[in-house]
Amino acid sequence: MQADAPIGVFDSGVGGLTVLRTLIEKLPREHTIYLGDTARVPYGTRSGETVTRYALLCARHLAAHGIKLLVVACNTVSAHSLTALADALPIPVVGVIEPGAQAAAARTRGGAIAVLGTPATVASGAYQAALRRLAPLSSVVARACPLFVPLAEEGWIDGEIPRLVAERYLSDLRRAADTVLLGCTHYPLLARVIAEVMGPQVALVDSAEATVQAVAALLEARSLLRTGSSAARHGTLCTDLPDRFRAVAERFLGRPLPSVELVDLGTFSHS
Ligand code: DGL
Repeated sequence: MQADAPIGVFDSGVGGLTVLRTLIEKLPREHTIYLGDTARVPYGTRSGETVTRYALLCARHLAAHGIKLLVVACNTVSAHSLTALADALPIPVVGVIEPGAQAAAARTRGGAIAVLGTPATVASGAYQAALRRLAPLSSVVARACPLFVPLAEEGWIDGEIPRLVAERYLSDLRRAADTVLLGCTHYPLLARVIAEVMGPQVALVDSAEATVQAVAALLEARSLLRTGSSAARHGTLCTDLPDRFRAVAERFLGRPLPSVELVDLGTFSHS
């Protein structure tokens, strides 16, 4: 595998751009190729089997682009499908659960951690299991907050409506947690509202930075960090509605996307 090959990043849609943004900031020399499965989003309200079926299609498509490493930016996929992806691909696969749980375990003071995620992520128990292993003395409560995803995509991240939704999901956790793990790609966009509802004593942890650190360490250990001095290239693919993807993407990526290519992942095969 060549150090010059791109890093593949995928998510169910635009949300994983929050991880890509950190990746580009921290590893600016790396070429990247991002795939958002906008034809099948959301994943977070589906069964684990369906999520894995979709994830394998995405991963194989990116692998065919000659990527050197796959970042699974989607928490729902990381929670359900990481082993299936690692078994299917000949390259390293990095998910967000383990790095996110490590960051929360390092951050908590009193050992009370609230994990927020999609219904599928919470139901998988993946964050809860990782935190029990990494911080055995902590108490962990997990809460599904499905309405945060459409709110973030609509750009309704401030004001009365997201505030009421956050109150409804989180008000009873106010005294139950000193650390909140944002276990979904979209939730960092709602960080301000979540922080307001949870109160100033609560630390918010986002897995993006810890995931990028894991990627950097893995590439370094395998001598796969890109050293070339030419400008890094960033490709973006999606499976439906590229114009809507571009319009929403800027909010997640923090800058405009030059172009988005529409791709067809075909159908699932067990081979
Ligand atoms: N990307 C998903 C996650 O992080 C959220 C959006 C979805 O449900 O597909 O879990």
